[in-house]
Amino acid sequence: MIRRGVIGYGGRIHGSIDHVLRRLDPSVQVVGVVDSNEEGTRTRLAECDRQNAVFYKSVDKLVRRAKPDALAIGTRCSLHSPYAVQVARYDLPLFLEKPVAVTLKQATDPERAFRKSRCQVVVSFPLRVSPLCELARRDIAGGAVGDPVHVTAVNYVPYGTVYWEQPYRDYDIFHGLFRQKATRDFDYLSCLMGSPILRVTATATRGQVFGAKKKAGLVSSRCKEQDTCLESPQNHKRNGSGGSPSDHLCLFNVDCGEGHRFNEDASSALLEFASRAHWVYTQVFSSRRDAAACGATVSWYLGTVGFDWYANALKRVRHRSPFSAVERVGEGASHLGGDQELGYSFLELIRTGKGSRTPIQTGIQSAYACLAAVESAKQGRYVKVRQVSC
Ligand SMILES: NC(=O)c1ccc[n+]([C@@H]2O[C@H](COP(=O)([O-])OP(=O)(O)OC[C@H]3O[C@@H](n4cnc5c(N)ncnc54)[C@H](O)[C@@H]3O)[C@@H](O)[C@H]2O)c1
Repeated sequence: MIRRGVIGYGGRIHGSIDHVLRRLDPSVQVVGVVDSNEEGTRTRLAECDRQNAVFYKSVDKLVRRAKPDALAIGTRCSLHSPYAVQVARYDLPLFLEKPVAVTLKQATDPERAFRKSRCQVVVSFPLRVSPLCELARRDIAGGAVGDPVHVTAVNYVPYGTVYWEQPYRDYDIFHGLFRQKATRDFDYLSCLMGSPILRVTATATRGQVFGAKKKAGLVSSRCKEQDTCLESPQNHKRNGSGGSPSDHLCLFNVDCGEGHRFNEDASSALLEFASRAHWVYTQVFSSRRDAAACGATVSWYLGTVGFDWYANALKRVRHRSPFSAVERVGEGASHLGGDQELGYSFLELIRTGKGSRTPIQTGIQSAYACLAAVESAKQGRYVKVRQVSC
């Protein structure tokens, strides 16, 4: 039996335990939880965990009394780093949700804490370890494009309403979509190119699609425009565009944020790698339905390798011989198999003390790149990316 302690038992960590980890190893049990919402957590816990899990007021009590074999941190973004610093004191494998940090101090704190720690971490970066990204990485490392110098990467997010109609819009907790969202993309691209990001210039557009002047506290059921508003529950259902089909926060009111403290409608970055490769990246949150796209294209003298997680496929074109190929991934797994690979990686870490494919350094390095992008978008100039030294 694997005894698991969880700090912040929310929707994401519940999915990763119940739908991923327990399928790989049915002996996984949640034995202890630290969560400020005990009642909500109890309703979320699987039946078998509901009987065993004990709630604790602190990480220290959880570790000493529940004696877990491994820990997970699944709180919202702003608490990942403070809890990770606490967990670094223990010699226990840790599954840590992304982003690892949302401020510079939050990134340097775990860098310091993990320098001497024996706690090994699997950062929740499913894209980097997904079979599709791994295939692309192997193709590129094998010379499919020649020197990988030029990359474009896109994220046309079809479920972007969540960032305005759910708590994800709370800037104090999630700190915007360069940090909350782009962190996993910056990470997989760095892995794909086999090189760290050195400097970034970025821009962001806010308040042109979502967020506006409607009154504070407004929810769709109390809005006079719900028949015509494209984001009302009834229109979400009618036009098949995704978004919540039940009563939800207004996407066009003042609570969405203001100034820089506001999720971006779209944001873009130009990044330079240590290898001298450069990469154009953009994420947009108003795409819907078949416009969904998330992936990268690497193209140079010898060929082009491009893949997309929504199309579930990788295309390789040989520029100098008459062959092109499309390879498809089997369907059905969350994050196209990336969550399962993270699960295997975490179980390996618990059993052998080795095997993390996304150690703490990957999470901190990606946070540094995201923070540089935020800074650049504010200042309108290139910003150097701090490099992890732990
Ligand atoms: N890796 C991925 O691909 C991926 C996908 C989705 C979400 N996420 C990340 O997962 C995180 C959680 O998202 P979610 O949708 O599960 O959120 P959620 O709100 O469902 O879960 C957060 C949990 O933390 C608890 N909590 C709040 N304050 C706490 C405190 N002080 N101490 C302990 N627990 C506390 C809440 O009660 C809740 O149970 C987010 O940071 C998000 O960015 C990652």
